Amino acid sequence: MSATTLALLLAACGSGGGNAGSTDAAFVEQGKSIFRFDTFGDETKWTDTLRMHEVIASAVDPLTGLSVGLKVDAQALPAEVVQGIQMGTVDLSSPATTIALLKLDAVVGLKGTVETVGGKDRLVRVGTTCALCHSTVDDSFAPGIGKRLDGWPNRDLDPGAIIALSPAIDAATKAVLRTWGKGKYDPRFNQDGINGPQVIPPAFGLQGIDRITTTGDGADIAYWNRYVAVTQMGGHGRFTDARIGVDVKNGDDDLVTSKLPALQAYQLSLPAPTPPAGSFDAAAAQRGKVVFEGPGRCARCHSGPEFTDANLRLHAPSEVVSEPEPSGAPGYASRSATKQYRTAPLRGVWQHPPYFHNGSAPTLEAVVRTYDARKGLALSESQMHDLVEYLKSL
Ligand code: HEC
Ligand code: HEC
Repeated sequence: MSATTLALLLAACGSGGGNAGSTDAAFVEQGKSIFRFDTFGDETKWTDTLRMHEVIASAVDPLTGLSVGLKVDAQALPAEVVQGIQMGTVDLSSPATTIALLKLDAVVGLKGTVETVGGKDRLVRVGTTCALCHSTVDDSFAPGIGKRLDGWPNRDLDPGAIIALSPAIDAATKAVLRTWGKGKYDPRFNQDGINGPQVIPPAFGLQGIDRITTTGDGADIAYWNRYVAVTQMGGHGRFTDARIGVDVKNGDDDLVTSKLPALQAYQLSLPAPTPPAGSFDAAAAQRGKVVFEGPGRCARCHSGPEFTDANLRLHAPSEVVSEPEPSGAPGYASRSATKQYRTAPLRGVWQHPPYFHNGSAPTLEAVVRTYDARKGLALSESQMHDLVEYLKSL
């Protein structure tokens, strides 16, 4: 081989590497689109079974939708719609406007199929996507309307109240769903019949963590993504895990499996958000770090770059300060595959109160006071204050 061909070959290799990079970017982009817009065929559940398309068309005007925490993607709105909302000429109290927004793919986490018959738009199918619970918007246009923030949990969303609108659900189940409240959902209730709702967690900051969910049930995100897509959203495919006695198969096709790698790549690409400037006292946070690593004994479990020992061990419920469940339900861990808890990663923790799997601590101050009392830490008021400022800085 001559020197020239080798040089050409190496150059080709170089550009091959570059292509691999852009392929990765395309792969992540594909995952983003799945995260935002893919229903995995779950219209079978939300339309054929739950008849939510009828509920939306008859009763869910945009104001009602916003009041149960649905979000609108302002970037999907054409200029004339933006102007119409600003001038008050778009009727936000009409379900027809919701259908128009669904047609624009502007309702975060809902995917509608709209057909125009005789000049009139009709919602014929509706399904849900991952973004329903794990995206919100930055409110830059109006409360509930703005730019998408993927991975941020939607703590305004009231999934129980929304599902309870379905005419296909019996009164006893509706009564349970209505107890959940905003920002909470029980992803096991329809499998084990126990009512113990979970705070909707962030789907960001998971790079490098090999235990997924509060209880570390899966070694990778794809485990849980398949669980939710099939058993909760009603997507077509199969989820089976003998540890929890769950074996669910929807349809004879599989609209989930092929999408899991790209979906996971997208989630792993979402970093935890950094705290807004001026949101914490830097000097106090510096002192709080010393408390975290010293007398608070937090770093025993919240260790490493993501502030979790999840890749090394899980923790028995007796070690964890968030049980018993406030509702009196059996401990969430007892309903999981591992029966244990994963130390929660703390990057971006400022962003998503309330805290712990069941939301039992409304603020970071309540978290610190709970640890102080339950673990007998005997921290002083100023140590607790500094520790809170440190948590806000992560
Ligand atoms: C109806 C609301 C809802 C929808 C829709 C939903 N999730 Fe979740 N998600 C939850 C709740 C609640 C949990 C907490 C479960 C737990 O930790 O046991 C969770 C947990 C997770 C986690 C674990 C995070 C961690 O810290 O380990 C990931 C990742 C995730 N969801 C991704 C997804 C993806 C991807 C989809 C779409 C396939 C999806 N979710 C759809 C409510 C939802
Ligand atoms: C024995 C191990 C252990 C120790 C020690 C520990 N934690 Fe935790 N921490 C956990 C586990 C496990 C969870 C998840 C519990 C849950 O979700 O209910 C958690 C959750 C949290 C959360 C809530 C995160 C969220 O996303 O809701 C915060 C904040 C936190 N811990 C801070 C601290 C601080 C501050 C200390 C020291 C005072 C501390 N932890 C000590 C294991 C520990």
